[in-house]
Amino acid sequence: MLDPITGKLVLCAPANTIIMTDTMSPKARLNICTTCTASSTEGATEPRHGRILFDKMVENGATLDIPFEIRAVECLTNCKSGCSVALNGKGKWGYVYGNIDPENMIADLQELATKYAETDDGIVPWRERPESLRRNVIARIPPLD
Ligand code: FES
Repeated sequence: MLDPITGKLVLCAPANTIIMTDTMSPKARLNICTTCTASSTEGATEPRHGRILFDKMVENGATLDIPFEIRAVECLTNCKSGCSVALNGKGKWGYVYGNIDPENMIADLQELATKYAETDDGIVPWRERPESLRRNVIARIPPLD
């Protein structure tokens, strides 16, 4: 919805909603699995840890001019590796990350997704990734030509 005063897109984030402002191009997306639990031995929790992660990222992103979309998805088939997310974008390598701590890794995930969005090919050099996420890559997927 456009704000009648500023003319900017107003952020709203009910479940499974993309956050996007009028200054963003839909070039990169952070997909967050909302059905994940942080531990495969803990069993399902309510709310799911993935839902907590999604809600926190949406809340955090609503106060910033983030250069990527956030989308809730159900299951990235990485269920045994804690909270999982996938970064993708047009012309970019896709990345699946696991073991995301929904309490303590919000800022790092924000930083990673921002750096990812700012690349042309989706490749964020290992040393430029937040340290807490450097060993969390589960897979990377080549872009479509
Ligand atoms: S439930 Fe999240 S990856 Fe399967």
